[in-house]
Amino acid sequence: MIRHLTSIRQLDRSSILSILERASIFSHQIKNKQNIEQTLKNKIVANLFFENSTRTKFSFEVAAKRLGAHLLNFDPNSSSIKKGESLHDTLKTFQALGVDIGIIRHTDDMYINSLTKDPLFSIINAGAGKYEHPSQTLLDLYTIKEQFKHVDDLTVTICGDIKNSRVAKSNIAVFEMFNCSVNLCGPKELLPEESTLSQCCTIKDFDEALRETDVLILLRVQHERHKLYDVDTTSYNESFGLNHKRIKLLKNSAIFLHPGPFNRGVEITSELVEHKLSRIFKQKENGVYTRMALLEWINNE
Ligand code: CP
Repeated sequence: MIRHLTSIRQLDRSSILSILERASIFSHQIKNKQNIEQTLKNKIVANLFFENSTRTKFSFEVAAKRLGAHLLNFDPNSSSIKKGESLHDTLKTFQALGVDIGIIRHTDDMYINSLTKDPLFSIINAGAGKYEHPSQTLLDLYTIKEQFKHVDDLTVTICGDIKNSRVAKSNIAVFEMFNCSVNLCGPKELLPEESTLSQCCTIKDFDEALRETDVLILLRVQHERHKLYDVDTTSYNESFGLNHKRIKLLKNSAIFLHPGPFNRGVEITSELVEHKLSRIFKQKENGVYTRMALLEWINNE
């Protein structure tokens, strides 16, 4: 049976840990310039991004190429979609071309799941509307595990546009699996309803949450998905951004992440982006290792 990954909930704890373990081996091999087994040799991988991306698209491209795959990069703006071709016929065309794995980003929450009902090829969700972003969660977990050597029982604080965040949804599902406590902070318009919260989550004052935090995850306000909240840059940074005053509340052992793209001066004061507690650029690097491990997992039918 061909494999897909549309939701992080499809993976249990032991599958997640084994993907992270493979990612760690790839990291070691790349850093030490060792040969990498070409497990995707002769496979065709298509990056089918119907919504903008920098990190996810190009880290999947690097990951696929490192495993020996042929990579097709689809650009909707220069494609026959502009002449009226449907999404379905576009994907059928890629199937006819011989694609084995399709890495799909789309603005719609549920489109990704519809593709697995009568699959044309293996599907990886590379970000679906407000639904989920499972490969981001894997790289976040890898980055956390790299720091703490485990993921269990940590206190995680997520601050920002949680209501509209596919990253938050996938991450919270996994933090619950690893028995973490999750504080949710941000403007009230951008927080989920209390009644919908997972058991591991508590809505908290940001400064109070920071004092007990092991891992802080900052999130961008997703203006492209809603008009719930008008950001005033200065007041957002004062209330919900990581700034010079607020970073003093974090423990020395804490780390902070941001899935990107981030807005300097809004979610984070510019000079803190490369602070010693920041793992923001480390996340980008780790995205390649974890996506290599994910592609290998998908390929192991
Ligand atoms: N984190 C993330 O999904 O970034 P991109 O939108 O640049 O892929």
